[in-house]
Amino acid sequence: MLVDGKAYRSIWPAADGEAVEIIDQTLLPFIFKVARLSRLSDAARAIRDMQVRGAPLIGATAAYGIWLGLRQGTGDAQLRAIADELIACRPTAVNLAWAVERMLTKLLPLAPETRLEAALYEAEQICAEDVRCNEAIGKHGAALIAALWDKKGRQEPVNLLTHCNAGWLATVDWGTALAPVYAAAAQGIAIHVWVDETRPRNQGASLTAWELGKAGIAHHLIADNAGGHLMQHGLVDLCIVGSDRTTATGDVCNKIGTYLKALAAQANQVPFYVALPGSTVDWRLRDGLAEIPIEERDEAEVLFIQGKDEAGTVRRVAIAPEHCPAFNPAFDVTPAHLVTGLITERGVCKAGREGLSSLYPEQSQHDQHD
Ligand code: MRU
Repeated sequence: MLVDGKAYRSIWPAADGEAVEIIDQTLLPFIFKVARLSRLSDAARAIRDMQVRGAPLIGATAAYGIWLGLRQGTGDAQLRAIADELIACRPTAVNLAWAVERMLTKLLPLAPETRLEAALYEAEQICAEDVRCNEAIGKHGAALIAALWDKKGRQEPVNLLTHCNAGWLATVDWGTALAPVYAAAAQGIAIHVWVDETRPRNQGASLTAWELGKAGIAHHLIADNAGGHLMQHGLVDLCIVGSDRTTATGDVCNKIGTYLKALAAQANQVPFYVALPGSTVDWRLRDGLAEIPIEERDEAEVLFIQGKDEAGTVRRVAIAPEHCPAFNPAFDVTPAHLVTGLITERGVCKAGREGLSSLYPEQSQHDQHD
């Protein structure tokens, strides 16, 4: 996507062939800075500290992380240790383990001396596929938005609500939940986005609002608590969010607060869609609430907030009494029955086993284990 006229992806190999470059997302929206990942430890830290975040992007970063790690040695033990280190960085988004396992499957059968080159190639394939998937998600999602625009007589903009950041910054390019927005806007559909701020880390305020602003898409930032009110007053035509892990039965795990939006959407007959690539489905899982590991992050994320003061200095300030205990689950699970549909790279389906296996028949072997 374009940033001030220059095309960017969220991750790319450095021009000197010695490293990978990313946009440091902990500094946005105030500072746009490219960071260089030269070693495995840089890639692991970038994932853990959320310089990169979003399920597809952490998968892509881990794939490049394997390449970076193999530069120190390409034996089986080294490869497995690199994989373990990367998988441990964040527990919820399944794309991380998915990308690492895909790399292992490709690399382990190869002679160690050929692994370095093959790792770079495979990481690039993962990135290229992610871009293709997201573009297809955009096309399928834009058709839903177009239908709503027609229903509104093509007069008023379609009002879409999204949570967290599932835009191009969360993927290699395009995004998942925001891909349909970008595709619809490119088709000339009038669209306006309600952007949930997404406490505690405020990915909506710092990343989604930044992305939409750079793309010239009409939007308003709203407090997380405002969505239900907007839906009650007919100001939301549809919700689209992303997913960190989706069960084979269509339960969706996404950024904390997604579930509350889905409840409000159902109570107000607002369609609630989840946009995701097939790599976000964990085909082994049947019950999202019981089986998806929920990352618990540092309580400091709840107790402090980062912003820019009037003098232009980026600061972190406390928002609670000193020594106030806090609890910080980073994701929640929205049960399939609250999800109107899943927008995938292969089309839109019902959130459930039947819908998913109609789009991904090759995964039906997992059903035999029921
Ligand atoms: O903690 P984050 O910022 O990595 O969480 C990101 C999300 O919850 C996204 O909605 C999800 O990863 C889908 S990204 C296309």
